[in-house]
Amino acid sequence: MGIHFGVDYYPEHWPRERWETDARLMKEMGVQVVRMAEFSWFKMEPAEGEFHFEWLEEAVALLDSYGIKSILGTPTAAPPAWIIQKNPEIQPIDRQGRRRHFGGRHHDCQSNPDYRVHIRRFVTAFAKRFADNPGVIGWQIDNELGNSHGDLCMCDSCKRQFQKWLGRKYGTVEVLNEAWGTAFWSQGYNSFEQVGTPLITAVGENPSAMLDWKCYCSDLIVDFADWQAQIIRENCPSHFITHNFMCFDNKVDYYDLAGLMDFVSNDIYPAGHWQKQPHQPDNELAACHDVIRGYKKKPFWMMEQQSGMAGWEIMGRALEPGQMAAWAMQSVAHGADAVVFFRWRTCAMGTEQYWHGILGHSGNPGRIYNEAKRLTETFTKYMEEFEGSMPCPEVAIVHSFRQNYAFDIQPNHPQLRYVEQLQKYYKAFYDRKIPVDFVQDMDDLSQYKLVIAPLQYLMTPELEQHYMDYVADGGNLVLTMRTGVKDATNLCMTDRELPGRLGDLCGIEVPEYDCLLETTGGVLYGKKEYEIEKWCDIITLKGAHQIAEYSTGFYKQTPAITENKYGSGTVWYIGTEPGEELMEDIMTYITRICEIEPLGTAADGVEMMTRESEEKVWLFVINHTADEQVYHLHGMYTLLEGACEEFLQPYEVQLFEGYKRRK
Ligand code: GAL
Ligand code: ZN
Repeated sequence: MGIHFGVDYYPEHWPRERWETDARLMKEMGVQVVRMAEFSWFKMEPAEGEFHFEWLEEAVALLDSYGIKSILGTPTAAPPAWIIQKNPEIQPIDRQGRRRHFGGRHHDCQSNPDYRVHIRRFVTAFAKRFADNPGVIGWQIDNELGNSHGDLCMCDSCKRQFQKWLGRKYGTVEVLNEAWGTAFWSQGYNSFEQVGTPLITAVGENPSAMLDWKCYCSDLIVDFADWQAQIIRENCPSHFITHNFMCFDNKVDYYDLAGLMDFVSNDIYPAGHWQKQPHQPDNELAACHDVIRGYKKKPFWMMEQQSGMAGWEIMGRALEPGQMAAWAMQSVAHGADAVVFFRWRTCAMGTEQYWHGILGHSGNPGRIYNEAKRLTETFTKYMEEFEGSMPCPEVAIVHSFRQNYAFDIQPNHPQLRYVEQLQKYYKAFYDRKIPVDFVQDMDDLSQYKLVIAPLQYLMTPELEQHYMDYVADGGNLVLTMRTGVKDATNLCMTDRELPGRLGDLCGIEVPEYDCLLETTGGVLYGKKEYEIEKWCDIITLKGAHQIAEYSTGFYKQTPAITENKYGSGTVWYIGTEPGEELMEDIMTYITRICEIEPLGTAADGVEMMTRESEEKVWLFVINHTADEQVYHLHGMYTLLEGACEEFLQPYEVQLFEGYKRRK
């Protein structure tokens, strides 16, 4: 497409006279694309049916005259006050049954039929108006779908939709009663009409009902996006459609949402004030990019890449010199074909006054602008080459929204978080410079030498068979604690000991377990004692052999980690959450058995990642630290960018080119 760097731009926040200066400065910085208008409904339709697109056309044309293309966002995450006045019931209801009102954003119910009428009118006019505009190349639907929709929406319209959804899923209310286990606490229903949205209860909630609710909410959001995408495609067939996802966020199943998009986009704010301090660790960011690539198994765009200090009422840390560029190139290393920085100029009004951009409030180019300019000058030409290329990892980690929902509903241990658990496994590979893909459980796994499937809590006969086939055919699989505990509707399995049929695969049984509340435990592996956390499965060997044992608890000296040959493959069962050290040592052992080669060696904070085309491999070495670093590569590469091989300046990004690895 020839477009690799851009900014999120809000010309409507600034006087018309300033726009030309913006366009010129953007061009000089190497900006090739802007995203605009995703929060400008009132400006484009100040009263029903009165469309004012001229200002946006003017901005698009001006930018186009500087060679900058536009992506337009449908502004449906912030309906204007006149819509709310006409249809106040569009405003969502929270779990407490309270209405959430106009004045911020996301004050909309996505199932509300009146809201859909407003959207159809507006989006049809919007798409028609820009369909043949030479400056426009694509659309973003809504903005960060699912964001701020934590507990929303419990309104009557959502209730009716939920009932219909349940009707389609279960057919009869008797089947629902069975699937939800409503014999407990007298929760049986005589008809679907009796089923409500999960408004706050006196105490407790039904885990099966909650799982269906979360899946319904996800389906609603997917439907909302799909329906908008259809309006755009009918009226404007030649443009691409994308959406800005939020890494691992789980309000909507991103695998489903990705299916509607021409490509996936992502938003990332490593130094947001809500992140771990001073910023989200580079391994976690890397995992975010990998999961985003996994949603569509395709390269993606960064639609909002942090460019300045981030905050609303409170601010996070300032970005150190070089940090923004290192984070941007990290996105590219993991599969981004374009990086759009949020935002062009720091806004002087509204909630986001302190969410800083490429330019500060003054609008004068400064340190961040110059850094972005250097970045585009160095890397635009390579990005043209990278376009479409993909990382090709040998290791996959299984990721599932349904498992995530189930652990949100019942964490088992108060500190157990599904995504955090995945991140812990991921880090063991990242630190050892071994690239990872995220995959869905039922994906074809045969291309991977090693598959890690943590917390396979909800289980189906099909998934059991899938894992057994993968290992039988020579795959190497890691399964963990809390596997095979529940069926697909979130009822506990009762037909055999845990982990169900996967016990045959693993050569074990787990008749008992222990929850490490407010304490940690120990494991003996080799000659060393290690810390473990949260959970201990008490394991009986049924053919597997033990590779680590507990050193604490009444089950001390019983197996904690086991290994089993099955068909032509091997399966490991990890009955606990390994502390960081044990995780590292166990994964070193497992990757050695699987003959997985790291890209090189370096300290933590130095990242290595590759993208591959038909013939070439590009290797990125990124220093995420403020210190000088040394590293060593395994393999033959030619340095394309960077001062000195095997040595990195603080936050330096080096780029190498090499020949294809032989598989
Ligand atoms: C993102 C959002 C943007 C902007 C930014 C800063 O999550 O997509 O619209 O709000 O955060 O708050
Ligand atoms: Zn609603």
